[in-house]
Amino acid sequence: MWDYTDKVLELFYNPKNQGVIEEAEETGVKVATGEVGSIACGDALRLHLKVEVASDKILDARFQTFGCTSAIASSSALTEMIKGLTLDEALNVSNKDIAEYLGGLPEAKMHCSVMGQEALEAAIYNYRGIPLAAHDDDDEGALICSCFGISESRIRRVILENNLTDAEQVTNYVKAGGGCGSCLANIDDIIKEVQQEAATPAINNYGVKVATDIATGKQSQLGLTNVQKIALIQKVLDEEVRPVLIADGGDVELYDVDGDRVKVLLQGACGSCSSSTATLKIAIEARLQDRVSKNLIVEAVEPLL
Ligand code: FES
Repeated sequence: MWDYTDKVLELFYNPKNQGVIEEAEETGVKVATGEVGSIACGDALRLHLKVEVASDKILDARFQTFGCTSAIASSSALTEMIKGLTLDEALNVSNKDIAEYLGGLPEAKMHCSVMGQEALEAAIYNYRGIPLAAHDDDDEGALICSCFGISESRIRRVILENNLTDAEQVTNYVKAGGGCGSCLANIDDIIKEVQQEAATPAINNYGVKVATDIATGKQSQLGLTNVQKIALIQKVLDEEVRPVLIADGGDVELYDVDGDRVKVLLQGACGSCSSSTATLKIAIEARLQDRVSKNLIVEAVEPLL
């Protein structure tokens, strides 16, 4: 007997948004469908999205699924999560988000959350007319598991996104290796490669050496001098933060960097806005932590009169 959360059981017994969305020739609205899995493999999911063309907003989402308790609950959860989001926002929904919405899934059932994420991507890429095989950075990659038709790129992605460390986990997330088992050694090799690549310093967009922590997926900069750190902070502010603030009638100026404390002057709408603290934390601190160092703390300073 699987140890399901109350939320999983609730959505299994009373699934929300089950069914089809028919194309009704409504002005300004389009229906997109994404389909993943196969009945022969034991799980299949067809996801229907009703999209407002002008805003790219998902007005409605429904699903048809062939699968177990977790597949039905994951599909139902996904449709609840994405209603009201734009397509770009929906693309940020990960299989981890679906599992978290459900209060967790048994490890052996995580493939149901992955199936939801993949159906969502398939529907959005169908809507945008992008061939599914071409939307990854690379191509679909070599076929690793012929029993379940799983490519190397899918295995790499699930390892990275979910910090998987052994072949059994990969089987739980995408089923690869769960049939004849002849691909398990290849999956072990891919895990080692991904871990090695993550441990090898790479050069990021700012020309800085970075290492990726396989446990968190976060990158941290290596060997940055103080001068380089300040230059990098300035570059990120100029290229990624200020354009967003300026578009909103605000701006930010770097005032000083003291160790890990970054002092900034908020200007225009940002300086007088009651939500300027949130602006600092979300738009500036989080971005600098992501791009430069997770230890940075951003503080606003008052302009000298
Ligand atoms: S080839 Fe992967 S389980 Fe058979």
